[in-house]
Amino acid sequence: MNIYSNPELYDAIHKDSSFDIELLKTVASNISGSVLELASGTGRLTKCILDLGLDYNGLEQSKQFLEVANKKYSDQAQYFLGDMCDFKLKNEFHFIFIGFNSFLHNLTKTDAKNCLKCVNQHLEKNGKFLVSIFVPDPSFLYRDQNTLYPATSFFNYENSQCRIMEINEYDEESQINRLTWSLEKNNQIMADKYFFSMRMYYPHEMDILLADSGFRIEEKIGDYDGSPMDSDSEMQIYICGKN
Ligand SMILES: C[S@@+](CC[C@H](N)C(=O)[O-])C[C@H]1O[C@@H](n2cnc3c(N)ncnc32)[C@H](O)[C@@H]1O
Repeated sequence: MNIYSNPELYDAIHKDSSFDIELLKTVASNISGSVLELASGTGRLTKCILDLGLDYNGLEQSKQFLEVANKKYSDQAQYFLGDMCDFKLKNEFHFIFIGFNSFLHNLTKTDAKNCLKCVNQHLEKNGKFLVSIFVPDPSFLYRDQNTLYPATSFFNYENSQCRIMEINEYDEESQINRLTWSLEKNNQIMADKYFFSMRMYYPHEMDILLADSGFRIEEKIGDYDGSPMDSDSEMQIYICGKN
């Protein structure tokens, strides 16, 4: 099963996830026009943009996730079904962001370039673009492939105490990490398996991709607390303008 086919499970896992909201609000508070989130999911980040009085638009590939987002906010926000590396919307936006590692779903450099090209085409001349991904971590990528590791803390789902357990397989050639998630429910591993893949992008690759796609990096942030990116950073968060 695709991990993005079960929005109820996603929302149960992320019910209290607010780690990125303060940073997003700080960046978006300087915005005066409308906002586009790519890979907007079930709308987890919609409210913090609406709360700033800004127009929110989300683009998402999963029909199931989009439907849930629409149920939550369809009267206040606009959602589009689409692929972040191949979309054409009528409007331009003052702020475009791709949060929570979603950019890593661009599994090839061609996809990444196409995605950034679409962002550039939809960004106003003086607009801002934010992309937030983790820095590839060898201690995660090269774990024992036969061991199930906890991927989340405990959460409540279908009236049970649950957590996600995962295994991963990293292919150095393609830089793709293939993850398999299993739901642990009341201490029992369920039979259903959820699959997803992420391509690892190193900071030097992001520098080149962003520059080649017509962006000027204005700030490199290394943590959701807003601290600058350095060689020990676990996150790479780029705030860019258009060249
Ligand atoms: C980690 S979730 C993030 C969702 C939401 N932004 C959040 O912060 O909760 C990643 C999202 O990316 C979406 N996604 C993956 N590939 C996509 C693509 N090519 N175009 C648009 N959305 C995509 C998934 O369906 C999923 O909703």
